[in-house]
Amino acid sequence: NVGEFVRVEADPENPGVAVIRIDRPKALNALNGQVTQEIAEAAAAVSADPAVRAVVLYGGERAFVAGADIKEMADLTHARMLEYSRSLQNALTAVARIPKPVVAAISGYALGGGCELALCADFRVAGTKAKLGQPEIQLGVIPGAGGTQRLPRLVGPAKAKDLVFSGRHVRSDEARQIGLVDEVVADEEVYSAAVALVAKYVDGPAVALAAAKEAIDRGMETDLDTGLEIERLHFSGLFSTEDQEAGMRSFVEQGPGKATFN
Ligand code: HXC
Repeated sequence: NVGEFVRVEADPENPGVAVIRIDRPKALNALNGQVTQEIAEAAAAVSADPAVRAVVLYGGERAFVAGADIKEMADLTHARMLEYSRSLQNALTAVARIPKPVVAAISGYALGGGCELALCADFRVAGTKAKLGQPEIQLGVIPGAGGTQRLPRLVGPAKAKDLVFSGRHVRSDEARQIGLVDEVVADEEVYSAAVALVAKYVDGPAVALAAAKEAIDRGMETDLDTGLEIERLHFSGLFSTEDQEAGMRSFVEQGPGKATFN
């Protein structure tokens, strides 16, 4: 399912949770053109499948993703790089727009494009030995797959500049302190902790969860008035869903917290 380096897998113990498994171990999952293309396809597949209610991004134990493929990029010209960056940005944006809860399970390195991929998840769980960062400055360039934009939105401009100007590797405890990571667990528990973090949403109201995600993400990109308008339209739109009807009827008849959704 999907391709040579990226698979969409079901988690057998957690129905409704799909795993986008990046698997190019010889290059620590570096994002070459093919991996990028397959990530875009995987994002489209999990977005379109109504049986998928939550998603885990996982690269295995040694590395989440060690960045864009430096060997592939090294000799590209300015014109080719414009396209390369665009296709990586588009693939990562497809991940960011998956209309379901998404968590990045980070074991090992999440550097450069790998950190930028993790930024496209709703939540990040990292192992104690994980290393995150934007080391592009050490290659004489800057982040080109959203790092200068999504990182400051998450951790604020000063911390983003610290990471991008220095290119240093950030350990997971510091990443947790600055809000880059939401939960730090033992390395061998990264995958299961990440699954647990999103599995709790699989029985939730899917359309409302998608609306909540889109209202928050789109709202972060605009002024307050426009954001409130986005919220109002999504909120009122949910009054055409069965989940709204079931949720409110359940409250009226049985009290809070008893509703079951489609
Ligand atoms: C290509 C990579 C790679 C990468 C690792 N490898 N990262 N290949 N691109 N980003 C390859 C190595 O060349 C090596 O291949 C194999 O993976 C194992 O890596 P080692 O370096 O031997 O492992 P280790 O000594 O443990 O060091 C791990 C590491 C280091 C600290 C993660 O590999 C490293 O610094 N990688 C580069 C990290 C980086 O700068 N990322 C940002 C990329 S720029 P061989 O064949 O020798 O065994 C970027 C821009 C995004 O992401 C925007 C683009 C539009």
